[in-house]
Amino acid sequence: MKSLGKDNIILGIESSCDDTSAAVLINGRIYSNVVANQEVHTAYGGVVPELASRAHQQNIVPVVDRALKLANISAENLSAIAFTKGPGLLGSLMVGTSFAKALGLGLNIPIIDVHHMKAHVQAHFIQQKDKDQPVPKFPFLCLTVSGGHTQLVLVEDYLNMHVIGETIDDAAGEAFDKAAKQLGIEYPGGPLIDKLAKDGNQNSYKFTYPKVDGLDYSFSGLKTQFLYFLQEKTKDDANFIQNNLSDICASYQHHIVSYLLMKLKKAIQKTGCKDIAIAGGVSANSKLRKELVQLGKDMGCEVFIPPFEFCTDNAAMIAMSGYFMYQQNLFAKQNVTPMARINLAKSS
Ligand code: KG4
Ligand code: ZN
Repeated sequence: MKSLGKDNIILGIESSCDDTSAAVLINGRIYSNVVANQEVHTAYGGVVPELASRAHQQNIVPVVDRALKLANISAENLSAIAFTKGPGLLGSLMVGTSFAKALGLGLNIPIIDVHHMKAHVQAHFIQQKDKDQPVPKFPFLCLTVSGGHTQLVLVEDYLNMHVIGETIDDAAGEAFDKAAKQLGIEYPGGPLIDKLAKDGNQNSYKFTYPKVDGLDYSFSGLKTQFLYFLQEKTKDDANFIQNNLSDICASYQHHIVSYLLMKLKKAIQKTGCKDIAIAGGVSANSKLRKELVQLGKDMGCEVFIPPFEFCTDNAAMIAMSGYFMYQQNLFAKQNVTPMARINLAKSS
């Protein structure tokens, strides 16, 4: 293939949890985004770290190969390789990191270590190949909700962002997945609760909110509250769950979404931001997307919601983050190591 001259071509690699993904971004536009989900965890009701890293090892070469082919790019055309450094499962991160280091060394091109949670926010700037998408204006607020995190992020610039509120225990995605497990729904439960809730009455059952100050969240009490609720209801009616599944899902989902948006509303009032956004796997939730649009109308804010494929874990967002870092020459050294925990800067 001929050289593409001054084009900026970033290969993104994501392997922080149970999705192996590779993407090609050319001059800030996405040309491919391949995601291999790992079915192996379904039987266990959650991600098994050892199985996840083994599956990443099997998937990484074919997934990268496919992403390059779909973008009609050969490895020699790449300008840089961006990979997830963390946070995430260490064994999983090691597969993507080692692959990026080896390929970068072989091609003699820079490697870029990306923060997974920043990348979820930066997904808002991904442009399609042939169509311009509107993007949020700085500063904006992003509610980042995933299986491992729940954060209110004040985004000052492409690379500069601070956490102004976050969960003090479980994440919102965990609250979905753990309730799903109690209901006998397969992992990951979030998407199925969302689907079942569509036929349910959200006012059927009520749950209470925890007392947490400021812009922080807590979800661990809800897990216990939900367990006691099911125990109480199934005491007299063994078929309670199967006869009321949609109503239970709708009420539980309504509770989580209202709680997430209650704090986001507070954050809007506190910061005066006019643009609001959501990111992370839970931002695929249809009720959250709908209610966010309503909140935007009520508060006079412009709302930004990424397409589904850029909400859950994907390498397009890693490549996007890499693109911004490439422009600032923020490259990693060959001795870079992945990190299971890396905090985003916190401010009050
Ligand atoms: O961002 P993500 O793909 O991976 C992490 O970085 O954690 O988020 C995964 C989480 C899981 O908890 C999953 O149940 C949740 O996102 N999720 C949803 C929906 N789709 C994915 N939760 C609620 N409704 C959905 N539609
Ligand atoms: Zn994620």
